[in-house]
Amino acid sequence: MGRFKDIFGQSLSAERADTIEGWNRAILDYFTFKGDPVSEALELAHDRSFVMGDVFAATMLVFDGATASSPQVSSILRRLEALHDAVSAQEQGHIRAVRACAEGGISLAAGCWDRVLMEHPLDIVAMKLAHEAYFLIGDANGMLRSVSAALPHWRPDMKAYGFVLGQHAFGLEECHQYAAAEGPARLALELEPDDCWALHALTHVYEMQGRHFDCLSLLDAMRSRWVNQPLLAAHIWWHLALRYVADGRFEQALAVYDEQLAKVNVSSAFRLTDGTSLLWRLELAGASVGDRWAELADKWSAHAGRHANGFLDVHIAMALAAAGRQSEVERFLAGFNEDAGETTSELGEIRRQVTAPACRALVAYRAGDDRTAIGTLASLLPALHRIGGSNAQRDLFDRTLSASMLRAGELARSRGFLLRLLAEHPNAAWVLDDMATLEAQSNDPAMASVYRARASLAVAPIAENGRSRASLAGGARHQRSDRRH
Ligand SMILES: [Fe+2]
Repeated sequence: MGRFKDIFGQSLSAERADTIEGWNRAILDYFTFKGDPVSEALELAHDRSFVMGDVFAATMLVFDGATASSPQVSSILRRLEALHDAVSAQEQGHIRAVRACAEGGISLAAGCWDRVLMEHPLDIVAMKLAHEAYFLIGDANGMLRSVSAALPHWRPDMKAYGFVLGQHAFGLEECHQYAAAEGPARLALELEPDDCWALHALTHVYEMQGRHFDCLSLLDAMRSRWVNQPLLAAHIWWHLALRYVADGRFEQALAVYDEQLAKVNVSSAFRLTDGTSLLWRLELAGASVGDRWAELADKWSAHAGRHANGFLDVHIAMALAAAGRQSEVERFLAGFNEDAGETTSELGEIRRQVTAPACRALVAYRAGDDRTAIGTLASLLPALHRIGGSNAQRDLFDRTLSASMLRAGELARSRGFLLRLLAEHPNAAWVLDDMATLEAQSNDPAMASVYRARASLAVAPIAENGRSRASLAGGARHQRSDRRH
């Protein structure tokens, strides 16, 4: 067994130099969202001394819903265990992390990668896998802490410095530090224009601040880059479609769905989440999505036989319920009870405490059972981050809860909930839209028109005379209909 340095300067165990060349290609593809890094990493298993390809591939498989009992993952874990004593302490840390991850201990796994990072702060793979692990369980503080501790060891002339800044920016953004996140995200893009994660972080900053035109300009200016990074491009299209929903361009949002999100590779469950989330949001905004749910539910059916992680599960529940697949919905929900014994792992605990009730609430909302939807979602709000994903992705729960309260005529609760959201996100067009609906239902047309105008102004360009094209009478923006699902 020899030692070789990879493209980021990390010393790795391997038998052959060309294994490291293959690893360099796989990991660069991973950071730039190109190619098929998991398959590329799996091919390196022919080098019987090389562990990092297996560590990376198994982690990615688990993040996409596989477990330690999945044949492919269990076979990789056996190979890693066999090599454990022969490799470096740094690589042993990676093996411990992937084992914890496969057993559903995502915080433990992130902690293992963090410990690797403490001794080897330039181990960009440990940093990124910790980042993704924390993301999977919605631990924004963990995400930020991890990269912040390593960042002082990095210098601008190091190869992956831009990628580190991109992760730092996303950690800051998820911790609601939007102003602080913008600088590192923009610097990351200066240094590494192919860092789609930095572009994504900056998109989130603009999304969460309701900076409509900054978001549209960014995605337009960098379109030639991100459309050629297929492993994240669909998600960036989703972000663009969010802006189309916000400014009422429902047809463009549906075109993004039809031309991009409906065409993703269905073998990866995560790739289906963007389309599901978009259709759900479009309907909440009053758009008709036609018969698109049926085809999407067909695609989800291949993944609905298991409960993998919270973020995937809630999207499965939404797609099946929206498509009216009653028997499949019941089978999927019953699966939570069958899995009840598997609650000792962290993912099992999240499934029992958060995911299962969240799925039942979404199904109840779809069935018009507002009492259940409101009661459950409202009580789950402080814990929903544990299903993973970003703040922007999980605002779907806020939107659904608000829609349910308005449909049920729960005006006092609705007002309290929406005013709190508005204090955090004063330019969020959907919150302003719902406030307008609330005021109209409260027989206050004057305040309804004020909120309607604010919703239009939030996405309206400023004209030369300094006034917006929106007005108190309402601009050209598509106004939400009363139709609720
Ligand atoms: Fe995102």
